[in-house]
Amino acid sequence: MSRFILGDCVQVMSRFPARAVDFILTDPPYLVGYKDRTGRTLAGDNTSEWLQPACNEMYRVLKNDSLMVSFYGWNRADMFISAWKAAGFRIVGHLVFAKTYASKSTFVGYNHENAYLLAKGRPQTPDNPISDVIPWKYTGNRHHPTEKPVASLYPLIESFTRPGGIVLDPFAGSGSTCVAAAETGRRYIGIELMEQYHAAGVSRLAQVQRAVRMPAANDSTFLPEAA
Ligand SMILES: C[S@@+](CC[C@H](N)C(=O)[O-])C[C@H]1O[C@@H](n2cnc3c(N)ncnc32)[C@H](O)[C@@H]1O
Repeated sequence: MSRFILGDCVQVMSRFPARAVDFILTDPPYLVGYKDRTGRTLAGDNTSEWLQPACNEMYRVLKNDSLMVSFYGWNRADMFISAWKAAGFRIVGHLVFAKTYASKSTFVGYNHENAYLLAKGRPQTPDNPISDVIPWKYTGNRHHPTEKPVASLYPLIESFTRPGGIVLDPFAGSGSTCVAAAETGRRYIGIELMEQYHAAGVSRLAQVQRAVRMPAANDSTFLPEAA
C-alpha cells in the first residue's frame, strides 16, 4: 500500500505510470555540499545533474491539477526555479518555516527554511487556506543530518490532500514526509538513495505503522515492491 524504496528517484519514478500520485512533498539536496559536525553528508548535494530529470519525473507522475511543495536552498533558488518551470510547474505560493534558533550566522542569522508551492495544471484552492508561515521545531537531526520536523509537514499534507491520498517524496531521507503522511491517514511513497537514511526511515515507519492503521489501498497496483 505504502512504500519506502531504496534507489535513485529518477530511475524509480521512471517506472511509475503518469499521473499516479496526489501530492508531492519533497526536500531535495540544497546543492551546497553540506556536511554536519559529525561528518554526515547527503547524496546529490555537490552536483546538479539530477535536478532537471527529477523535476521532469515529478511533473509526469503527479496527477493533473495537483500540487507539489518543494523545499530548496535559498542560495540556489535560480537553479530550482528554472528546473521547476522547465518541467511545467507554475509557482503558486512560497512557504517560510520560522525557526526559534539560527542554524548558522554570517551576514545574518539564518532563522528560516523555505519551500515553494508549485502547481501542475489548475488545482482547486482549499476552503480554508493555511498560513504561508509555519512554525519549526528543531528535530535534533537524530535520523538524518537535515531532518525536517514532522509537525511542520502535517498542515501541508492535511491542506493539500484528502485522507487515503498518495503522497510522494522522491528525496525522502529518513522518511519525515512519509511519517507525516502515515500519521495523517494518507498513503506514501518515499524514495531514498543512501542506505543509512533509508534504513532509518524503514525503522521510523515501522514504529508509525504499529501505532496507526493505514487506509486500504484500491489503486496501488502500480507501486513497486517494498524495499
Ligand atoms: C535534504 S535530504 C532529505 C531529508 C528528509 N527531509 C528528512 O527529514 O530526513 C535529501 C535526501 O535526498 C537523497 N537523495 C539525493 N539524490 C537522490 C536521488 N537521486 N534519489 C533518491 N534520493 C536522493 C539524499 O541522500 C538525502 O538523504
